Amino acid sequence: MASEPADWLDDLRERADRRQRVGLRRALRPRPAGDGVTDLAGNDYLGLSRHPAVLAAAAGALSEYGLGATGSRLVRGSTDLHAGLEAGLAGLLGTGAALVYSSGFLANVGAVRALAGPGTLLVSDRHNHASIVDGCRGSGAEVVVAPHADVVAVEAVLAGRGDRPALVVTESVFSVDGDLAPLPALHEACRRHGAVLLVDDAHAVGVLGRRGAGGVAAAGLSGQPDVVVTATLSKAFGAAGGVVAGPAELIAHLVDTGRTFIYDTALPPAVAAGALAALDLIVAADDLRAELNERAAMVGKRLVDFEVTEPAAGVVSVTAPGPREAVAWAAACRERGVAVGCFRPPSTPDTRSRLRVTINTGVPREAFEAALDVVAECAP
Ligand SMILES: Cc1ncc(COP(=O)(O)O)c(C=O)c1O
Repeated sequence: MASEPADWLDDLRERADRRQRVGLRRALRPRPAGDGVTDLAGNDYLGLSRHPAVLAAAAGALSEYGLGATGSRLVRGSTDLHAGLEAGLAGLLGTGAALVYSSGFLANVGAVRALAGPGTLLVSDRHNHASIVDGCRGSGAEVVVAPHADVVAVEAVLAGRGDRPALVVTESVFSVDGDLAPLPALHEACRRHGAVLLVDDAHAVGVLGRRGAGGVAAAGLSGQPDVVVTATLSKAFGAAGGVVAGPAELIAHLVDTGRTFIYDTALPPAVAAGALAALDLIVAADDLRAELNERAAMVGKRLVDFEVTEPAAGVVSVTAPGPREAVAWAAACRERGVAVGCFRPPSTPDTRSRLRVTINTGVPREAFEAALDVVAECAP
């Protein structure tokens, strides 16, 4: 029987009602410019999104190139800014080459799809970001979701690889709980079984390692021929965009065949210029990284009455009793001028709801400490 034209909307309303009943609706809140909140929610780890050198570089490119890239780089041409940013990123990450994408999400999907296809054995950590999950789902590979940070489990899966190509995918610093993957041990397991290791360094580039070279570099794995790195420019760089970094052959393959690169309008040149300026600042920011680490350690000390994760970088999560309580807790903080992240299923790797506190060294130290007190006082 043919359905009524509006049936699908009834279906969407019903699904929204179901989410409402279990406290899982999401609401977009207005964000005025200069809203004056203390930011413990964003990922502007080093406060570079507003750095004068970053803004000046972006403004200069904006007037030279205009607002948008107006086409993909293959169609419209590739600017010196994109090339300079890629050279700088490859230098920082210690890889042969790098390719910039218009987002970290697209970089992850592109990297996974380039490295895995039908016939590949793909092992993905259970806490991996949605962009990795989507890359895995669309790859046509046999995907095994491994227990979180469990090298023994990964190795057991790889042992059944046979003569198939194999890929292991993990984040370095995990985006929800802020813990660190066992990268050296994972790499050894990959080596033993001839697998490639793909690491999403989104929350570690700029934050971990000497010169901010990231989690892969901090683990001593930069430039290994069987390691590929992805990252986003939307976090420590304070910009937008993503990158895949690895051997030159991989980058050439992505330019020839990668759908999320080929069929996507390029990163705006002004954003590339701002990110390039941010890269120079990142390399020289060891003092900010030391400050960030101190602040991350401070979260658990100030929030002693709560279940707080041990931070490996700038992400700390605080368990909330449930989704409704998490929303109410974050809202109460906001009322008092403090923005914190609020994560509920399905944006969490398990059923726990959390507040996520992220460190931004651009926030004055006293304001940061006062904000932690507000988080504690607003607990449900
Ligand atoms: C671990 C991780 N990977 C990838 C991304 C996606 O990056 P982008 O926001 O640049 O699309 C994010 C978050 O934004 C992330 O947390």
